[in-house]
Amino acid sequence: MDTIAIFHTKGGVAKSAVTVFLADFLASYEDKRVLVVDLDPQGSSSKALLGRDVLEAGFKKRRSLPQLLSKSIESGLSPHKDAIEAVLYKRPLRGNNTKRSTYLAELSVLATDRKGWRAFNEQINDLTQDSQGQFLDLLKDTLAEFEDDYDIALIDFPGSELPFWTKLGLRASNWWLLPELPDYLSTEDLDTAVELVRDAQKNSTHKILPLGTLLTICPNRGSGSYKSALSALSHLAKERAIPGLFDKACEILHRPAAQNATDWKSEKSRTMVARYGSSTTPFHTGLKTLSKAVLQRIGQQSKTKQLSIVGDLRRKLTDYWRK
Ligand SMILES: Nc1ncnc2c1ncn2[C@@H]1O[C@H](COP(=O)(O)OP(=O)(O)OP(=O)(O)O)[C@@H](O)[C@H]1O
Ligand SMILES: [Mg+2]
Repeated sequence: MDTIAIFHTKGGVAKSAVTVFLADFLASYEDKRVLVVDLDPQGSSSKALLGRDVLEAGFKKRRSLPQLLSKSIESGLSPHKDAIEAVLYKRPLRGNNTKRSTYLAELSVLATDRKGWRAFNEQINDLTQDSQGQFLDLLKDTLAEFEDDYDIALIDFPGSELPFWTKLGLRASNWWLLPELPDYLSTEDLDTAVELVRDAQKNSTHKILPLGTLLTICPNRGSGSYKSALSALSHLAKERAIPGLFDKACEILHRPAAQNATDWKSEKSRTMVARYGSSTTPFHTGLKTLSKAVLQRIGQQSKTKQLSIVGDLRRKLTDYWRK
């Protein structure tokens, strides 16, 4: 399983939107087994994927990640797989309709509720620094239980700084995808994010590999602010201070389409077209390109590539028999 941190310390850079887009496209088009870990008590990505009602009902029954981790801190043991599965939300199968382009595919979500998150935080703050250190790999160990069950885990981070919670998320990740706004201020807040990623690897064998920097919410590529942000970020990427930039074709340009896709309306919105528009629109094709680029960078096969490999093999075999 590849675990990807969709991480920036800055708020409103489309962390949650990118998490939702990648989750849907990797699960629905690429047939990947996807687990979304929503670390944000605002719950933007879990609400977009599951709907508010499902989550509210679940939270009443304490189905949330912080509730699970709190119990584990009390007992001093990592959570057991059955206990994790009990708090996991499954977005159901697309029924009998197996047409990828029609229905959104199955995926799983670990969600964070405010109440549970506050209680977890208090519990952690009551511990000494040393004891806190013992629990730094709590999320990593939790996700390790699913190593063979999912191909990709996407971790959506909270925008405001929540130090311990953020550390847990980074220590559980092995890739970093940095969403960034192409504006004049874009490079100003990067230091904190870079430092936290660096810290998470300090004094341990844990490695977080740079997956990519993605320019999000790009209304006008012709503007001076876009151009100056692009040049500043390209420079930082060249210096290897931040992950390498994704190609322009992956950038998310379409504001209303992006907003529609992150807004859960009803069961009716469980189709790819309702969420992402027709498969020929630039927004839809851009996200397909992005999900393929992600797979390529983490070294996982894309569905269409697999088909072309099968095609290549078939062609070679045919040639062989012809000879
Ligand atoms: N490409 C886009 N173009 C325009 N608006 C977008 C785009 N992507 C996301 N948005 C909108 O921008 C807002 C912020 O996005 P999002 O909530 O994903 O950011 P975030 O980084 O997760 O924020 P937070 O730090 O609060 O968690 C949302 O209203 C979302 O619908
Ligand atoms: Mg968010």
